[in-house]
Amino acid sequence: MLEKFVVRGRNRLRGEVNISGAKNAAVAIIPATILSDGVCTIENIPNINDVTLIARILKEMGADVSMVDKTTMKIDSNGISSPVATCESVKRIRASSYLLGALLGKFHKAKVLSPGGCNFGVRPIDQHLKAFSSLGAKCKVESGVIDIKAEKLIGSSVYMDTVSVGATINALLASVKAEGTTVIENAAKEPHIVDLANFLNSMGADIMGAGTDSIKIKGVKKLGGTTYSIIPDQIEAGTYMVASAITSGDVLIKNVIPKHLESITAKLEEIGAEVTVFSEAVRVKASNVLKKCTIKTMAHPGFPTDMQPQFASLLSVSDGTSIITEGVWENRFKYVEELNKMGANISVEGKVAVIEGTAGKSLIGAPVKAIDLRAGAALILAALTCEGKTTIDNIEQIERGYEDIVFKLSSLGGDIKKVFVPGDESLDLELAL
Ligand code: EPU
Repeated sequence: MLEKFVVRGRNRLRGEVNISGAKNAAVAIIPATILSDGVCTIENIPNINDVTLIARILKEMGADVSMVDKTTMKIDSNGISSPVATCESVKRIRASSYLLGALLGKFHKAKVLSPGGCNFGVRPIDQHLKAFSSLGAKCKVESGVIDIKAEKLIGSSVYMDTVSVGATINALLASVKAEGTTVIENAAKEPHIVDLANFLNSMGADIMGAGTDSIKIKGVKKLGGTTYSIIPDQIEAGTYMVASAITSGDVLIKNVIPKHLESITAKLEEIGAEVTVFSEAVRVKASNVLKKCTIKTMAHPGFPTDMQPQFASLLSVSDGTSIITEGVWENRFKYVEELNKMGANISVEGKVAVIEGTAGKSLIGAPVKAIDLRAGAALILAALTCEGKTTIDNIEQIERGYEDIVFKLSSLGGDIKKVFVPGDESLDLELAL
């Protein structure tokens, strides 16, 4: 059976929505438990496929993983006795690269299949390997397997040539139990880096400066168990902020850290949406057609690349010509073809997209395909504004990172359903509804 979303547009979203725990923090914190000699209880775990997958990989490696309740996961990684992760699931998720740092930190060696993840062009791991080498490890990549060994890990200066979330996380994981002090320079500053560092510190690590571009790690001998609650998901929150704006809605987005949303809030205000910031919530209201803007994505605290496709949908129905420059990924505009099928007018030249807004005129529902996670979210947002019905294919991409998206949007008044159809594209979806 194929699963699709069917969305009928033109409803204004209204009400309240609760944001789940952060995907990109969870998929780093779960493998980080490998470094602990105790039992870790992790709260505010989002119920999404990427989390299920990384937890399953740990389980297959020998960890004892269980859900205490819907959002609390308990992990005892002491059963992992071999530093090898070569099961097929590893290829399906980018975050499996964190097994490298965690296994290296614990066993001084790691053998992991090359990780998968969204396809935004080349996704090198040279900076991850550079960090491991700086700590004294020898790395080789052969037939799709990354093989790393170190006699001992010695704290050192790790300079990142490019700001990388993944490489910063791996450098943290590999250095927390190294001998002496490590300093990561030109580190990534994303909220999930800070969350991982806080998690490691709660297990007994000594990390200072996470959230700045220089992180200092004093190696410790042992890490114990902990109970830790994951931060809310910045990008899920941003996606619902855009959902409200694109439908001329009025939505209170709860369980967020407004500080993490500043770049998104600033852009929404710039184009004419009204954003009210509370201590743990933001309200986004839009009544008129929104305006054009220019966006350049960059590392935190700049405008997040993971919000770029969602804003492309929003600007497609705004007034005027907007320009989005992708500053992080080589190729993150593959979804434009799908949005254009719905009547958007976007042209792409290299890393720049030029969007001619419809000034409030509806897009038209069409059959489209989620190319990747955030691209899929962008299609749902566009579909919410469409005249008629949109069917979205390949929704497993969306379910990798958005918990209960059908329930959450429906409870705000959106018309979205998940349908199951036999694997024949030509069948009329209405029959399956
Ligand atoms: N890069 C290198 N060498 C490296 C690593 C990265 O040149 O060794 C380059 C990349 O090619 C890219 C840039 O550095 O141009 C940034 O890549 P980064 O390593 O920061 O990305 P990542 O860790 O692979 C994480 C998120 C992505 C998000 C990026 C950027 C996770 C699991 N993934 O990926 O999230 O787009 O940071 O913020 O945390 C998503 O959630 O939809 C998603 C794709």
